Amino acid sequence: MSLPDKTIKLLYVDHSQLTAVERLQTLIADNKLPITLDVERIEGKIKQRLAALNAEGEQAALLLDNKNKLSLLKDGLSVAPEWDKLQRRVVSAGRKSELILRAAKISADSQVIDATAGFGHDSLILASTGAQVTMLEQQSLMALLLFSEQQRMSAQPNWQKLMARLTIINTDALSYFAQLQKNTTDQAVAVDVVYLDPMFPEDSYQDSKTGKGAKVGKQMQALHHLAHPPTLDEEMALLNNAQAVVADNQEGRGRVIVKRPQQAPFLSQQNPDESWHNAAVRFDGYFV
Ligand SMILES: C[S@@+](CC[C@H](N)C(=O)[O-])C[C@H]1O[C@@H](n2cnc3c(N)ncnc32)[C@H](O)[C@@H]1O
Repeated sequence: MSLPDKTIKLLYVDHSQLTAVERLQTLIADNKLPITLDVERIEGKIKQRLAALNAEGEQAALLLDNKNKLSLLKDGLSVAPEWDKLQRRVVSAGRKSELILRAAKISADSQVIDATAGFGHDSLILASTGAQVTMLEQQSLMALLLFSEQQRMSAQPNWQKLMARLTIINTDALSYFAQLQKNTTDQAVAVDVVYLDPMFPEDSYQDSKTGKGAKVGKQMQALHHLAHPPTLDEEMALLNNAQAVVADNQEGRGRVIVKRPQQAPFLSQQNPDESWHNAAVRFDGYFV
């Protein structure tokens, strides 16, 4: 019998992890993620089981390792948000060390929407300022990785405050923006910054002249199997609607920040008001 769509295998390694499996099921139910877990405890060697799954042509699987870290396995790659690896950057983040913060110009009382959350790394840097960050992610599997990481990191006292500033939503950014615009009541919170980091073609990190340059990282490679770069029409819709959302900001400090590879054309071919770049990436700012 074939399993219905959106069913994904969840592998775990030890009986003691059953509560962690249940926690995942609860996260899926509470956040209404369209995912059904096909839970399996790995008997024997993990590597062998993964190789067998690959051979069976399994599209993707989730792995809960013995530290209850959730990873996505896809086409031989294993990826996870791994927010703990950003600890140093998060602790020392400031406008001097993080270009994204120079561009976003946020403060502790800012409201930010990261409309393309991905692994949530940029969200963490944005939230390191004290700002509230709403993280939108359209892929339900990516959203599950984020929810699970937020829960895992919230168990660590020194991460709790930062974790409490992150709100993860499994939605397409465009429908979320449309909803925000409808909600014009007094309670509506003014958005200061909308941050966009849509996918770009896999080769766009490389230098256009020499063909050399940074390769797309493992995490981005895995994402490329799940999500696609937007079409020009989609780019236009994203940028225009993001601008409309920050235009409602009464204090006039709204801006849209777009992350691009250094060499890439402007999103939706629209000239920004200001750009910040280093050798690899560029942040384009659109102000209102
Ligand atoms: C390049 S990644 C973002 C990486 C992220 N900035 C980070 O630091 O990990 C783009 C992500 O945005 C998501 N995405 C793309 N278009 C979206 C949309 N319209 N609404 C919500 N999420 C979107 C993709 O599924 C993908 O996970």
